Amino acid sequence: MKLTWYGHSSMGIEVAGLQLLIDPFISGNPMAKGIKVDEVPATHVLLTHGHGDHILDAGTILKRTGAMLVSNAEICDWYTAKGIKHTMPMNIGGETDMGNCRVRFTMAQHSSTMPDGASGGDPGGFVIFTPEGNFHHAGDTGLMLDMQLLKRFKLKYACLPIGDNYTMGYNDAVEAAQYMGVSTVVGMHYNTFPAVTIDVEKAKAAFSAADIKLLLPAIGESIEL
Ligand code: NI
Ligand code: MN
Repeated sequence: MKLTWYGHSSMGIEVAGLQLLIDPFISGNPMAKGIKVDEVPATHVLLTHGHGDHILDAGTILKRTGAMLVSNAEICDWYTAKGIKHTMPMNIGGETDMGNCRVRFTMAQHSSTMPDGASGGDPGGFVIFTPEGNFHHAGDTGLMLDMQLLKRFKLKYACLPIGDNYTMGYNDAVEAAQYMGVSTVVGMHYNTFPAVTIDVEKAKAAFSAADIKLLLPAIGESIEL
């Protein structure tokens, strides 16, 4: 499968004939100026929670592409009221089919308010089961023991926040990876703005000391996983 990083926690995953787009925050990210929002492909837009730095471009991309919105019920309802027709409302612990893949909405320890102050339900993450292996996008979360439950899904890799302050930092992300039993991590939610700025070399060293591969693609870069 091909993963394209769009900065912050935004990524596109091309797998099994689908174009999954997770947490699109592109037009508000000065570091992602090179990405053309009106060309980002999506068959499914997956939103982990309601914060602006995860949903900013979701509405325009959903309208342009007619993609299916996959999120918790509150966020799906919020978009339905804005005219988005195709939604798959979920909640924590549930799974459903998404074309040739299957998606599970997992727990996150965070908050989830929509930009207008409406409830964004409980924040979450996703496990995506694909014919090319399973992966996890954790959304925004602190370290939690519940991550141990993900080990049974034999994840090929996990996308984990490493930027600290609003989420876990890289040391906790190493522990999260160990809880999940993953040996490859795509780092996210770091260096976008001052509060999440980290020393990347120290992050690499922390993962390397635990014998876990930390992938930090450039914005706009695609990697095979
Ligand atoms: Ni957040
Ligand atoms: Mn965030």
